[in-house]
Amino acid sequence: MIKLNNDVEIPEIGLGVYKVESSDMERVIKTAYETGYRAIDTAWFYKNEKSLGQALKNLNINREELFITTKLWNDFQGYDKTIESFNESLENLQLSYLDMYLIHWPCPEDELFIETYKALEKLYYDGKIKAIGVCNFKEHHLETLLEHTDVVPAVNQVEFHPIFNQADLQSYCEGKGIKVMAWSPLMRGGELLENPVLTKIANKYNKSVAQVIIKWHIQQGRLVIPKSQNDNRIKENFNVFDFKLSQSDLEEIDGLNKDERQFRDPDDVKIGIM
Ligand SMILES: NC(=O)c1ccc[n+]([C@@H]2O[C@H](COP(=O)([O-])OP(=O)(O)OC[C@H]3O[C@@H](n4cnc5c(N)ncnc54)[C@H](OP(=O)(O)O)[C@@H]3O)[C@@H](O)[C@H]2O)c1
Repeated sequence: MIKLNNDVEIPEIGLGVYKVESSDMERVIKTAYETGYRAIDTAWFYKNEKSLGQALKNLNINREELFITTKLWNDFQGYDKTIESFNESLENLQLSYLDMYLIHWPCPEDELFIETYKALEKLYYDGKIKAIGVCNFKEHHLETLLEHTDVVPAVNQVEFHPIFNQADLQSYCEGKGIKVMAWSPLMRGGELLENPVLTKIANKYNKSVAQVIIKWHIQQGRLVIPKSQNDNRIKENFNVFDFKLSQSDLEEIDGLNKDERQFRDPDDVKIGIM
């Protein structure tokens, strides 16, 4: 477990459920829970909050065991719409509070994210959310946010993998007490998992490339939320606590960086357009 800037604890590894079909959700969540996952990352945009809520309910466990994160979609930015959308997400998830609520994209054109974040602060002060934060905020978005709001975000969830290594943003965030959470930590699988440098390191530890990448994130202080809907890969991605990468392995993985985003630049994502 890792302590956030308000002393709330969050597991290092969570399960991302983007693109997990509703029909698969119950099995996926059951496997994840049995494997040891306690944190789940969804979003209003993923259209699976309802099936996730039902799957969590079916686990029949104490709510306090879980760390559930969802995100406010771009179209609902603004103070009142944020409160409304939060309530909808909570109802979808069949929960009475959220562990973490994040602004999905800054949509910076009119700095509406300031009003949006003030709504998150209100929900946080009211005890409906344990930790609040943002996603896809660059340094300049965070500078604006910090200047106009009171609660320092607990987390900034951003694209982060060996080919797009945002170490500078991570250093900036850490300086402000903001934890970086890596989305697409495996660069969505595929080609990266065949990279020869990563394969060589993986063979050394008798681990898979995915496990090596997940460990690289954890050892460098990032929270990580790999997505899988495959039972074996859900287990594989969590089985990373029995080895440790050396400093030279970490540096070799850092050396793979090409500063190449695989997805949208946050400054180009606008309300109503995705
Ligand atoms: N805030 C944001 O803007 C944002 C954006 C994107 C994603 N996210 C969050 O981050 C989570 C993770 O990111 P992501 O889903 O984009 O990508 P990812 O976790 O990097 O990769 C997921 C892909 O890799 C495959 N995979 C997973 N484990 C594997 C393994 N051990 N070996 C081989 N292939 C494996 C999965 O297939 P199988 O399912 O078939 O295993 C899936 O196709 C999302 O689910 C979501 O919660 C947030």
